[in-house]
Amino acid sequence: MDPIKNPFSPGAGSPPPELAGRDPILEQARILLGRVKQKKSEKSMLLTGLRGVGKTVLLNEIGRLAKSESYHVIFIEAHEDKALGPLLAPSLRTVLFELDRMAGAGDQVRRGLAVLRSFVGAFKVTLNDFTFGLDIEPAKGTADSGDLEIDLPNVFVAIGEAAENRQSAVAILIDEVQYFNEKELAALIMAMHKIQQHQLPVVLVGAGLPILPRLAGESKSYAERLFSFPIVGALSAADARKALQDPAHAAGVAFEPAALDEIVRFTKGYPYFVQEWGYQSWNLAHSSPITETTVQHATAAVIPRLDENFFRVRFDRLTPHEKKFLRAIAQLGAGTHRTGDVADVLGVQIGSLGPVRAKLIKKGMIYSPAHGEVAFTVPLFDEFMVRAMPEFQP
Ligand SMILES: Nc1ncnc2c1ncn2[C@@H]1O[C@H](COP(=O)(O)OP(=O)(O)OP(=O)(O)O)[C@@H](O)[C@H]1O
Ligand SMILES: [Mg+2]
Repeated sequence: MDPIKNPFSPGAGSPPPELAGRDPILEQARILLGRVKQKKSEKSMLLTGLRGVGKTVLLNEIGRLAKSESYHVIFIEAHEDKALGPLLAPSLRTVLFELDRMAGAGDQVRRGLAVLRSFVGAFKVTLNDFTFGLDIEPAKGTADSGDLEIDLPNVFVAIGEAAENRQSAVAILIDEVQYFNEKELAALIMAMHKIQQHQLPVVLVGAGLPILPRLAGESKSYAERLFSFPIVGALSAADARKALQDPAHAAGVAFEPAALDEIVRFTKGYPYFVQEWGYQSWNLAHSSPITETTVQHATAAVIPRLDENFFRVRFDRLTPHEKKFLRAIAQLGAGTHRTGDVADVLGVQIGSLGPVRAKLIKKGMIYSPAHGEVAFTVPLFDEFMVRAMPEFQP
């Protein structure tokens, strides 16, 4: 069928035609935004889930919700090698300038700018065209200690007071939170702690890999009282069917029930895969309804496509040693495994695996659901590893 009319959208962060199964999380976000605007306290949210489950899509949707509630919205994405201070400062400045343009008395906004300026000075943020107005003097002695855990809370409070002064509110959305180091995560948690104590109109919604709740808890034990950690998982069979059926239906096309069952069986409800299978099935079908046979043809096309792109880009970033470790996990099948069992597959001492395990966690390939356990961050990666290294001999 006409590929131009294909409603499905496999990609990174690309909005799906039907955001299936996420109403409870969106409702929680709506309540959070509504309460904080009314200066009632509510836990901030850190969404967690595997690769390709729709965390970025949800963050964007929450950003839209926040805008519609007249929040000033900041959206940043953490990187393996970019520090939190320089990442946040430019958008915080933009928000302060926006607040500055709003009607209202009091000089909290100017103070916010002065505090941010001293923060930036302390971290020697060097960014192109990152200059404050010449008339803004740094607020000496605030947010310029150079210790992020002291300075960031002060900056957040100054921004919160500026927003409160303009009867406005700020939503800070951060993707890939697991890339922050321990110090940065601690600073972020402490900043939100202060915001709650002062009941200021600032909301934080983050997203990251499933390792996040543990990182946050290890960093500050009170993190669980400040944040909720909604799990963004695979879609239920009913939601996966809906994610396929509704967009097709809107375009005047139907899926045979057996075709839907086949897609659900292969994708296990993982949103990115649902989009891929929907996309390919649509393109391969000659007419409506899309049949089970078409889906089987699509599977034959999708798996090599995933192997060459989605899985391959991750595989290619690995050293031979890392590949071997992952292949050994795959040998044990889907799900979570004990590191000790991986060592057994490889025929080595568990202690010798520490460094390679740590590197793979840093690269975001695996995470540790509990002490002594490992699991892939990418759904179906175990099956891919077996295809990629069929002749594995430990
Ligand atoms: N609720 C949903 N229903 C159907 N499709 C969805 C849903 N959420 C996301 N998708 C689709 O899944 C794909 C992945 O979404 P997204 O990039 O947001 O995932 P992610 O969790 O941020 O992945 P990563 O961890 O790799 O950044 C996109 O193609 C998107 O259209
Ligand atoms: Mg993402």
